Amino acid sequence: MADTATKIPHNVERPKTTGREKLMEFHLDRDAPIPSPEDVDMKTFDILDPELWRRDAHWDFFKWMRDNDPVHYTPDSFAGPYWSVTLYDDVRDVDIDHKRFSSSWEYGGITLGAPFDDFELPMFIAMDEPRHSEQRKTVQPAVAPNMLKEFEPLIRSRTQGLLDSLPVNEPFDWVDTVSIELTTMMLATLFDFPFEDRRKLTHWSDVATNPHNPDICPGGLDQWKQELMECLTTFMGIYQDRQSKPVKNDLMSLLAHGEKTKNMTPMELLGNVILLIVGGNDTTRNSMTASVHALNKWPDQFDKLKADPSLIPNMVSEVIRWQTPLAYMRRTALEDVELRGKTIKKGEQVAMWYVSANRDERFWDEDPYRLIIDRKQARNHISFGFGIHRCVGNRLAELQLRILWEELLERFEHIEVLEEPERNAHSFVKGYTWMPVILHPKK
Ligand code: HEM
Repeated sequence: MADTATKIPHNVERPKTTGREKLMEFHLDRDAPIPSPEDVDMKTFDILDPELWRRDAHWDFFKWMRDNDPVHYTPDSFAGPYWSVTLYDDVRDVDIDHKRFSSSWEYGGITLGAPFDDFELPMFIAMDEPRHSEQRKTVQPAVAPNMLKEFEPLIRSRTQGLLDSLPVNEPFDWVDTVSIELTTMMLATLFDFPFEDRRKLTHWSDVATNPHNPDICPGGLDQWKQELMECLTTFMGIYQDRQSKPVKNDLMSLLAHGEKTKNMTPMELLGNVILLIVGGNDTTRNSMTASVHALNKWPDQFDKLKADPSLIPNMVSEVIRWQTPLAYMRRTALEDVELRGKTIKKGEQVAMWYVSANRDERFWDEDPYRLIIDRKQARNHISFGFGIHRCVGNRLAELQLRILWEELLERFEHIEVLEEPERNAHSFVKGYTWMPVILHPKK
């Protein structure tokens, strides 16, 4: 990282946010040293502590679990008691086993903790069969291969336009200016949402995943509900409008005409809209930021990429492995299940830690902590999940990242990260909130 004391002007100063959520329990103080797994009682230590995620300091705890107690029970946390599954093979096996491990919102859905009783948001990622597949099939055409072919020139021209408008030799925040802007433009296209209002989508995505974060919802849960109801009103209008017109391949038209989705309740519509906004936004956005961050951490890999741009597709998979934009998915056991000598009891919640599986030394041939852009196993990463809920938008995310890097390499010698980025204080959406960079154009 560069010496930045003189370089960073006010408009890209580190944001003065609390970075802390009110209702989450921080056991670790904000700037206190992070203990090692040997210094704490791992029987009660809570890996969900947001401070661990804000400081990217969870790695040693997951390694301890993989080596000593790979199916680990935490008896108490703000999200209640939960199991952690940490090895690659086990995460894959639990993810595939949808008959014994439910995703359903009726049991609590796909994130740890109890849902809000008076504000249930059914969405197909948090449904079991057959409803899940019925709804998934309805939206799949929006991201089918023929649509990706259609999107490619559009994504490229937008990426080119944005990159050509960036300041050169002058610091700016990569997260907001590039990652958020590119993914938001794509979302507006997927929904056929008014382009000029596209930042509303980013806002609703941030609100939806941060009900307790005073930086995003200073008015607390009341504000959270009110903003989501505004989102619903907007999308209900679009849903009804699409119903009165012939079907097209945008997400809202497909939902409005789908046999199984044309009569959704308002909360089911809102739930699915939020799934698609969050799914298509945060994950891809954080992979874009991670790609620049990781290639700065390992300049030899950046040199390798510049020498051979045909490595871009593999590099994209490797970045998605390295970043793991969703750290886990939760399941609920529908019956008692034996796993590595432990009994997960019916009704208990289980976190399948993708972030740990993607560092499992038993699975990965070469150092899993390093970004290795020509890693042979890169495509075997588990960041998109496995089984019936495997990510619907994976090819679209890869396409956006591939085009971004093809266009970056055309223009810039280096995208220099000026300071350690700021991260989300969150154990589910693993990502960045701020990363100052400076662009060095090709001579
Ligand atoms: C599901 C990750 C991009 C839409 C998922 C799951 C993961 C994931 C882990 C759950 C898998 C499981 O439970 O087995 C990612 C990552 C992305 C990404 C890492 C980018 C790097 C996208 C995009 C879209 C999207 C661009 C939107 C078009 C969805 C949807 C589901 C899903 C709708 C639910 C699928 C189902 O339940 O059947 N994603 N995602 N994702 N993702 Fe993505």
